[in-house]
Amino acid sequence: MKTMNGILWLLLFSIGGSSTAFAERVYEKQNPPRELTAEQATVAASNYQKYCSLCHGDDREGHKNDHAPSLRSKSLFESGVPHSILRPMSYGRHGTAMGGYLDEVGGPMTLDETWDLTYWLFWQSGAQRVKLSEEPVYGDIAKGEALYQQNCTTCHGENGEGVTAPALFNPSFLAHNKDEFIRYAIEKGREDTPMQGFSDRLSETDIDNVTAFIRSKASEAEINKVPLKAIPTPDQYVINPDGEDPRLQLDQGKYVSSKDLHAAMLAKKRMVLIDTRVTSVWQRAHLAGSVPFPYYTDVQERVGDMPKDVLIVGYCSCPRAAAEHVMDQFNQAGYNNTAVLYEGIFGWMNLGYPVVRAEGLEKPEEISASH
Ligand code: HEC
Ligand code: HEC
Repeated sequence: MKTMNGILWLLLFSIGGSSTAFAERVYEKQNPPRELTAEQATVAASNYQKYCSLCHGDDREGHKNDHAPSLRSKSLFESGVPHSILRPMSYGRHGTAMGGYLDEVGGPMTLDETWDLTYWLFWQSGAQRVKLSEEPVYGDIAKGEALYQQNCTTCHGENGEGVTAPALFNPSFLAHNKDEFIRYAIEKGREDTPMQGFSDRLSETDIDNVTAFIRSKASEAEINKVPLKAIPTPDQYVINPDGEDPRLQLDQGKYVSSKDLHAAMLAKKRMVLIDTRVTSVWQRAHLAGSVPFPYYTDVQERVGDMPKDVLIVGYCSCPRAAAEHVMDQFNQAGYNNTAVLYEGIFGWMNLGYPVVRAEGLEKPEEISASH
């Protein structure tokens, strides 16, 4: 019976001809990008470990913290090099845990370093680039929406906010990626991740329809650059230096809730708040009075600037991985008056507590529900 079915299907397919249903598209190959010198490759590998491995994993496998995607799946590097890699790396995906790493937005990497890391990731992946059209993907948006609700929401969320997977209606995601890149991900999936390709479940037309629906969510203007603020100097680290110590209730000996921290700030308690995210995202929005102290800081080198007798609270967006990573190093350096903000800054914002925003960003950026 099984084989009969198989033959029937085969028949149906051949009758339908090449335009039918599940035939996979054939893509033209594209020349690889430049190779790195040994020196560039060494710097890129070490930048990867320093800046990216916290979330994307030591071996680029992804999903180590949060749901940072794999940075070694072939389909990503077939379709995404350079811009779909370079842009999120440079500018971040606003409203997610992915911050920008380019110096011009307040990040730690030079333009050359971001290009080299893009190409280093490409060469590590072993992928061969394919040629993708620059043209928009046209489709039936209403049909695409129905398909999206049926097939995609468990992981990407009903509003594309990302549950265990990237936020697909995110303005940065949509601004950085062309339609064919998005379509390619849906068709091929991402190897060794929960993202299975849909080429065997959706017709070519339906993949177009879903792509067109996702694209239809691009509306808000994407603001990549904001005017950079001066970084606080050590004499400005302690907020309310004349206030009392907060004496917070710490869950499991280390976590402070947003509610308690906010109350302590309102009561003008003496504290140091450190923002352990990449500094470009501190530039966009941060807790009032916080000091950038990114997770890749050499703690030994800078810890001496911090007072030992004042409570130091760390926070990040992932929601705790980067902050715990830094506060553990503080503890090892003999700083025991520390805490980690339990909900992270996105949790804090979702609860309605205030942040200081960059000029031009007075309107909150969309925040992924899962972070
Ligand atoms: C704090 C965690 C974190 C760190 C550190 C981090 N990322 Fe990410 N990254 C993420 C998350 C989360 C996403 C997906 C965001 C979304 O769309 O919801 C992401 C997405 C990306 C993407 C898009 C991938 C795709 O499938 O389209 C690239 C490329 C990327 N990151 C590169 C980097 C590089 C390079 C570094 C280091 C310079 C880095 N990231 C550091 C969390 C992180
Ligand atoms: C079982 C969970 C799951 C389902 C269902 C799912 N996805 Fe994904 N999707 C993921 C994960 C996880 C990733 C990130 C993979 C990685 O690590 O690179 C992803 C990645 C993607 C990407 C690439 C995002 C980027 O940042 O480059 C697109 C586009 C996408 N999915 C679209 C869809 C669409 C459209 C559907 C429904 C037709 C769908 N997905 C269904 C889990 C899922």
